Amino acid sequence: MKFDTPATTNPVDQLRIVGQPSDRIDGPRKTTGTAPYAYERHDVAKDAAYGVVVGAGIAKGRIARIDVQAAEAAPGVLAVVTAQNAGKLGKGRMNTAALLGGPEIAHYHQAIAVVVAERFEQARAAAALIRVEYAPEAGAFSLAKAKDQAQPPKADDGPGGMPPETRVGDFDGAFARAAVRLDQTYTTPDQSHAMMEPHATLAVWEGDRLTVWTSNQMIDWGRGDLARTLGLPRDKVRLISPFIGGGFGGKLFLRADVLMAALGAKAAGRPVKVALQRPLMMNNTTHRPATLQRIRIGAGRDGRITAIGHESWSGDLPGGSPETAVAQTRLLYAGEHRMTAMKLAVLDLPEGNAMRAPGEAPGLMALEIAIDEMAEQLRMDPIQFRLLNDTQVDPEKPDRPFSQRRLGECLRTGAERFGWNRRTPPGQRREGPGGRWLIGMGVAAAFRNNLVMKSAARVRLDRRGVVTVETDMTDIGTGSYTILAQTAAEMMGVGLDQVVVRLGDSALPVSAGSGGQWGGNSSASGVYAACVALREAVARKAGIDVKDAVFADGQVRGGGRSLSLGEVAGAEGLAAEDRIEFGDLDKKYQQSTFGGHFCEVAVDAYTGEVRVRRMLAVCAAGRILNPKTARSQVIGAMTMGVGAALMEALHVDERRGFFVNHDLAGYEVPAHADIPHQEVIFLDETDPLSSPLKAKGVGELGICGVAAAVANAIHNATGVRIRDYPITLDKLL
Ligand code: MOS
Repeated sequence: MKFDTPATTNPVDQLRIVGQPSDRIDGPRKTTGTAPYAYERHDVAKDAAYGVVVGAGIAKGRIARIDVQAAEAAPGVLAVVTAQNAGKLGKGRMNTAALLGGPEIAHYHQAIAVVVAERFEQARAAAALIRVEYAPEAGAFSLAKAKDQAQPPKADDGPGGMPPETRVGDFDGAFARAAVRLDQTYTTPDQSHAMMEPHATLAVWEGDRLTVWTSNQMIDWGRGDLARTLGLPRDKVRLISPFIGGGFGGKLFLRADVLMAALGAKAAGRPVKVALQRPLMMNNTTHRPATLQRIRIGAGRDGRITAIGHESWSGDLPGGSPETAVAQTRLLYAGEHRMTAMKLAVLDLPEGNAMRAPGEAPGLMALEIAIDEMAEQLRMDPIQFRLLNDTQVDPEKPDRPFSQRRLGECLRTGAERFGWNRRTPPGQRREGPGGRWLIGMGVAAAFRNNLVMKSAARVRLDRRGVVTVETDMTDIGTGSYTILAQTAAEMMGVGLDQVVVRLGDSALPVSAGSGGQWGGNSSASGVYAACVALREAVARKAGIDVKDAVFADGQVRGGGRSLSLGEVAGAEGLAAEDRIEFGDLDKKYQQSTFGGHFCEVAVDAYTGEVRVRRMLAVCAAGRILNPKTARSQVIGAMTMGVGAALMEALHVDERRGFFVNHDLAGYEVPAHADIPHQEVIFLDETDPLSSPLKAKGVGELGICGVAAAVANAIHNATGVRIRDYPITLDKLL
């Protein structure tokens, strides 16, 4: 099914099941520990051996000599695989550096060996016996120092890809002439996804066929890259990933656990499982790269922006890509004269890549402080300043409207619900004994582009009237199982308990996968398309004209007839498969999601400790398919945004080129208990240009702008403006 004209009324609009706050259908299994994760699949390989990955001890250079003899001779060891005996390997399309290093080393903790043994402890002990002599080379590890050598990145036509630079009008002239000007630099640090479940894989070979149980957001990308890396035909490789303990972008691509488990299993002649040990993860896998961002804004005394410029510098390994931190600045505020530019420096740190809302999340961390600073200079309320510079068209291409844009309503609704009118000037509200706590409120706009991806599904109907949905879509904790069941139940006129959903297996039709907040809307649209085909098949077999057919209460009715779906399906059942493909509606209309984040903080006047007291998000993101799962996504994202504001930073050792705090003791993230009150409001919205479901993404929108709302609240509390994240005590005092 091609989606290339605006959606009209369809069965999903009944909102009998879609749009309801259903509990997650996978919830009981996840909360009782009976949803098996990759590392726990004892049932499929009782004889699995254990692999432990060894990471490189230098950031750049070569392995001069590697001695594995002692490891091979250690108790229980079945195999040791290094680049010397792994055979010729290809490279995944999505991987910047090779997943198995040697003799060249591309980054610290790049995998250089896997030790396979009967038991985990034996593999770990033997791994410590591998002796490596390195010939290190000097590398570039500091973004600030590499900045002046940075170059414009090449144009990226991948998902969310964008030109490296845009210019409209005469930015320099307009900025120079502006009555009120801001020219500031902001920094965001390297960040780690720090998901709960580490990257983990169980690999099983049967002859030349490889099956991996793994933890991966994008099954089809992973399958393709695993086949490419091992030099196997795609149809010899199967990836299975039905339950995933978080990804946040860190599991979009094939990582070392998969390759090392596959190589280890081949060498040992046994199934092998590998989990990346936590202290390896931060340097072995990808991370959100640090940025330096210069923002210039010029406005008239009336508060109208006349010039807006945003430049962002980030670094990556050779052949890598930039953090697209200027993305939102191209679209968020009006202003006649504009420029944005990205520059990419070569750094020899581990691979930078997507983390929840890549681009907008760090971009808004900077832009939305800058907007707050401009409002302050103009002596305007920051919400008024944003409303004044709102736009209903793409400010770079004024003939291109937004499909829906209710940023203003998000901000106004939030202001009213949050009690914004109680906000005082900076440093004036104190509470607690001796006025110890300085209280402040902050706001930021949320913006994230709405991407769509083709997505296929198969739907089967059996003689009991049970509907089974099959697609390789993943559920990374987001609620995919549930919204796909809701979509099928609504389309086929059955209860939610009559639907079975099977996900996360490359043997199933290829879905959009979980990435870029495109997963929910795109994969549910794929299920919609398959259900349209199944409704036709059912009606045909029932002898009812599909245009008159009504699907309700487990029956199909029409032409004076009424048959149960099970009856129509019969003993052999009925099945249909289709794929949603998106035309160019997202080119004619700018499709984005919007929100407003509000935050109240208390800052200890003596210690600088920041406590987040209350948060509110108001989101406009098309139809909300399930308000409960969507709310959980936004609350989780808000919590993650607080981490970005106050805690999260991978600290670079600039002598040796690695992230020092490479575990969850050193890399701090907030828990929900750190924030007593969080609330989410969804504006009642449908977007007929986004998909047949009129839905959009929301899982990444939730983090966009949060950190700036916290930073702005801290400024409102204390009068101190911090432009370098995270905002730790030392910067406040
Ligand atoms: Mo997302 S950063 O595409 O999982």
